Amino acid sequence: MSTHNVWTHKGTFLLAAIGSAVGLGNLWRFPYLAGENGGGAFFLVYALCIFAVGIPILIAETMLGRNSRRSPIMGMRFLTRTHKTSRSWEAIGWLGGISAFLILSFYSVIAGWAIHYTWQMLTGSLIGADIEGIATGFDALLASPALLTLYHTLFIAASGLIVGLGVHQGIERGLRVIMPALFVILLVVLAYGVTHGDFPTAVDFLFTFNIADLSLEGWLEAMGQSFFTLSLGMGAIMAYGAYMSGEVSLTRTAIIVAIVDTAVAVVAGLAIFSLVFGAGLDAGQGPGLMFVTLPLAFAEMPAGALIGGIFFILVLGAALSSSISLIEPVAAYLVERFDLTRPQAVLAMVLTTWALGLLTVISFNLWAEESVFHGLFGYRPFDLFELLSNIFMPLGGMLIALFAGWALTQSEVVKEMGTNGLWFSTWRFLVRFIAPAAVAFVFLHAIPQVGG
Ligand code: PHE
Ligand code: NA
Repeated sequence: MSTHNVWTHKGTFLLAAIGSAVGLGNLWRFPYLAGENGGGAFFLVYALCIFAVGIPILIAETMLGRNSRRSPIMGMRFLTRTHKTSRSWEAIGWLGGISAFLILSFYSVIAGWAIHYTWQMLTGSLIGADIEGIATGFDALLASPALLTLYHTLFIAASGLIVGLGVHQGIERGLRVIMPALFVILLVVLAYGVTHGDFPTAVDFLFTFNIADLSLEGWLEAMGQSFFTLSLGMGAIMAYGAYMSGEVSLTRTAIIVAIVDTAVAVVAGLAIFSLVFGAGLDAGQGPGLMFVTLPLAFAEMPAGALIGGIFFILVLGAALSSSISLIEPVAAYLVERFDLTRPQAVLAMVLTTWALGLLTVISFNLWAEESVFHGLFGYRPFDLFELLSNIFMPLGGMLIALFAGWALTQSEVVKEMGTNGLWFSTWRFLVRFIAPAAVAFVFLHAIPQVGG
C-alpha cells in the first residue's frame, strides 16, 4: 500500500456517512415497511435495533475501515494478518460485496421511480389530480418494463459517473445543500399533512407499541431495515471509514448519524401516514406507498408542482449519495486487487448490477404473478432481494461486531476509541455480547418462519 486516500476535511466522514445513510431507506422503505407491519410495533423494534445494536456496530465498522485503511475485502485480509486470526473473517468483506450488488440492483430501480415523478411534477401533469388518477398513473409506470428500465439505466449511470470521477469534493458540497433542503421540504409536507391530513391517527399508528402486532417476519424486516437505513453491515461504512481522519471521535460520529437518519425516517413516516389516513388510504399498500401519497399532497398543495418537483429532486440527491456508497466498496476492491483504473472498476460493478436490476424491473410486470423464478425461489426477484438484504446486512453486522469485540487487540481498540473508561467497557460489552445475541435471537425466531 502506498498512498492512502483521505477525506479532505475532518468532518467529511460524517457528511459522507449521513449521505450514505439518508436515502430511499428513510423516505420510501421505512414508511412502506412500517405500514405493512402494523406501525408502532415495527417502529419499536426498529428503534431498539438502531440504538442498542446499530450504534455499537456502526462504531465497530468504522473502526475496521479506519484501522485497515483499505477496502472491506482487502481490509479484512489485512486485519486478520496483523491480528493473527483466522482468514475466514474475510467473509465479512465478501458478504458485503454480495449485498452491495443485490441492494444496488433494486435501489436503482426504485430511485428510477423518483425520476419519473420529478418529471411529472415539473411538467405539472399531476396538478389537480385525484387519488384514482395518481394510483392509475403509478400502476401504468410499474406496468412498463421499458420505462422502468430507462429510469433504472439513467440512475445507475449517474451513480457510476460520480464514483468513477471520484469527486469527493463535489459530493461534499452537494450534500451540504441537499440534506438540509430535503429535511426542510419534508417538514413542509408534514405541515401540510398536519393541516390537511389526519395527523393524530398517524401519531397513533407509529407510536402505539403493541408488540403482539408484529409477525415474526416483521421482526426480521424491522431489524433488516435498521441495518439498511444505517448502511450498516455491508462494507459501505468500512470503505468510507478507511478515508476517515484518525482524530475524529467514532462514538460521536455514530450517534449523530443514527439520530439524523432516524429523524428523517420519523418525519417522512409521520408526513406520509397523515396523508394516508386523511385520504382514507390503506397503510399496507406496499412499495408504492410514498409514490402514491406524496404526489397526492403535491397535486393539491399551493405551488405543489414546484414544491413537489424540488422534493423529488432532493430525493434523487439523497438516493445518489446512498448509491455511490454501494458502489464504492466494490470498486475500491477491484482497484486495489486487480489494479484496474477507477473508471474500469466502476464500469464492471455498474454493468453487472444494472443487469441484475432488470430482474427487479420485471418483478412489477412480466414476473409480477407467476414466473420460473417464482417457481424456483417462492418469491418475485425483488422480494427475494429485499429478504436477502434483510438477512445479509444483520449477518455482516454481527460478524463485524464479533470481530471488533473478540479478534482486535485491546490496545488497538483503545487507541481507536480514544478512551479506556466506562464507555469503552460498555461498548465492548455491547459488541461482544449484546449485538451478536440480538441478531442471533431475531434470526433464530424469524428465519424458520420465513422459509416455511
Ligand atoms: N442507507 C441507505 C438508505 O437508507 C441505503 C443503503 C444501504 C446505502 C446500504 C448504502 C448501503 O437509503
Ligand atoms: Na437511511
